[in-house]
Amino acid sequence: SGRRDLAGLRVVVTAGGTREPLDPVRFLGNRSSGKQGVAIAEAARARGAEVTLIAANLEVADPGGCDIRRVSTALELQDAVTDAAREADVVVMAAAVADYRPADVSESKLKKDASDSGLTLELVRNPDILAGLGHAPHDGTLLVGFAAETEPDDEALLALGRAKREAKGADLLVVNRVGWHEGFATDENAVVVIGRDGEIVTRAHGTKTSVAHDILDVVVSMATTTAV
Ligand code: C5P
Repeated sequence: SGRRDLAGLRVVVTAGGTREPLDPVRFLGNRSSGKQGVAIAEAARARGAEVTLIAANLEVADPGGCDIRRVSTALELQDAVTDAAREADVVVMAAAVADYRPADVSESKLKKDASDSGLTLELVRNPDILAGLGHAPHDGTLLVGFAAETEPDDEALLALGRAKREAKGADLLVVNRVGWHEGFATDENAVVVIGRDGEIVTRAHGTKTSVAHDILDVVVSMATTTAV
């Protein structure tokens, strides 16, 4: 399409999943492929935005025309997005960020012991990056969060999304259902976008590219209504 309705806007998108190292060869990770976030970056670029993609362990090809900053851990992602957000009109937090990381990272490969029957890992909380951005003054920056939930019931899924939008101070929250076979690493997605009053702004389903455009339609309407 020839829409250039994001021309002049600086859009930051985080995509992929963080990896939290245990030792030089192992990590705790998640199944996020980065497809939905990359589709948003690509769609925003196609609509004329200047796009910075904070890429966490993508399993898909880099989009063209974007400034790409590679990160791996939650703390690296936090540094990169906090820096990029300062200059941004829109920040889309599509990355799956680990809630915990190992308390200690071993300098050498962890070894099993002939006598042990198991291993207990100590984890510490990662910062909530979206909430950090949402609770700091961010006038003029539209914050879009995501929530991947396994909740099967629609009303309960919406309630989780509303609570999450509020808790994180996001302007919009995109809720999608994930599971063993839904959401992560698939080519299609179905989402509900929740607004500042807890209202359903839109529902979108289809390819991740078409969902990306539907989310950006909402961003455009909000970016133009908040502009002077
Ligand atoms: O709390 P939950 O992980 O479900 O929230 C998802 C949203 O919060 C996503 O937008 C994700 O990028 C963001 N997030 C974050 N920092 C974390 C965990 C999640 O920014 N530590």
